[in-house]
Amino acid sequence: MTSTVKGKVEILFGAQWGDEGKGKVVDMFGSEVDIFVRYQGGANAGHTVIVEGKKIIFKLLPSGMLYPGKVCMIGNGVVLDPEQFLKELRELGERGYERARLVVSPHAHVVMPYHKTLDKAQESHRSKEHKIGTTGRGIGPCYVDKYARNGLRVEDLLDADSLRKKVADALEEKNHILTKLYGENPIPFDEIYEPARDWGKAMAPYVGDTTDLLLKAVDEGKHILLEGAQGTLLDIDHGTYPYVTSSSTTTAGGFTGTGLPINSLTRVIAVVKAYTTRVGEGPMPTEDKGELGESLRQKGGEFGAVTGRARRCGWLDMVALRYALRLNGADVIALTKLDVLSDMDEIKVCTSYDVGGKKTDAFNTNVDFLEEAKPLYETLPGWKGDISHCESLDSLPPTARDYIHYIEKATGVSVALIGVGADRNQTINLGL
Ligand code: IMP
Repeated sequence: MTSTVKGKVEILFGAQWGDEGKGKVVDMFGSEVDIFVRYQGGANAGHTVIVEGKKIIFKLLPSGMLYPGKVCMIGNGVVLDPEQFLKELRELGERGYERARLVVSPHAHVVMPYHKTLDKAQESHRSKEHKIGTTGRGIGPCYVDKYARNGLRVEDLLDADSLRKKVADALEEKNHILTKLYGENPIPFDEIYEPARDWGKAMAPYVGDTTDLLLKAVDEGKHILLEGAQGTLLDIDHGTYPYVTSSSTTTAGGFTGTGLPINSLTRVIAVVKAYTTRVGEGPMPTEDKGELGESLRQKGGEFGAVTGRARRCGWLDMVALRYALRLNGADVIALTKLDVLSDMDEIKVCTSYDVGGKKTDAFNTNVDFLEEAKPLYETLPGWKGDISHCESLDSLPPTARDYIHYIEKATGVSVALIGVGADRNQTINLGL
């Protein structure tokens, strides 16, 4: 890509179904990056950062928040839940963490309490086979309002008079839907308006023109990291629709979600977990419902950071991974949770699918195709022992190195970072 910009704009995305360990990788960057930006999704994300054994989960705030002196931004593409936003800020303060300067786009849409009520009502009214398994965080209904041009944006919280009118209009419609369609109780105006006015007051100091600040930062040669939430296969357009989230989780979303121009991009970092997980409904060809799945779940702590739900687990799906890497134009891979695969006699990798008796290595997001797809595996030797103390590629067991090289060869993308444990320091950096 030809770039005429002076700054460094890197984008980091999840290459699977989310929960790839993006928070840890973003946190790793901390000392080099000037500005961390979230550009899509909302409090449905769960970015876990472990510092000196202490676990911090960011659902909404960028994972760079723990770096004082840095700037963290919530871009216009995010749907912002003010209660969650203020809670996370409060908790960081209470736990005594120094934190980055935070700037929120006035154009980010606000997840209102009625979005969460609607999310849950819609999900419970879906038939068993059509349930999505949403996080119940109001993400879908909030993006619906955004695209229907009925939404409230952060800037609307700042003006009490116009807020009053907008909340009244919104409630007229939402209460109609809630009572008539879903048999729920109507939501009283004061229950929404008064807290919303207070959120506006509390958030006002953080609101700023993130797009302008980012464009200036690029001109000033700053290092910007765009932090994707969820994963490619949950993308509203390119994921396994309808079992997806409601935002653009691919790198393309980084530009509409911030206002940065596409030619400002200097590097694309794919975060890939050493095996596959998925939470919520929808097809997952390599899902293992037996012992292997359970063992990965236990060893990998594969329980949702937002909902606590058990994640579905299985071997690495190379067919899906190749699709995700191509779609996002990945330059490098950050491979996470390699340690979870330790002590297995053998490790399998899905290299193609059998669909209706035909072998294919082409991914297709069509749900019927994926439900029919039977994974065809290649078997690699495993390795024994704890690798969480390894600090270099050479210190890894040879078969663990072979697994990494196998992934590089099969995808054509080099691995620039390897996660060997949960802590910030349990990482082998090969030049990320
Ligand atoms: P929603 O984003 O809450 O609407 O949920 C839609 C789908 O995306 C569900 O299958 C969720 O489980 C999944 N999902 C949403 N956020 C995440 C995430 O951060 N990690 C993994 N899955 C997610």
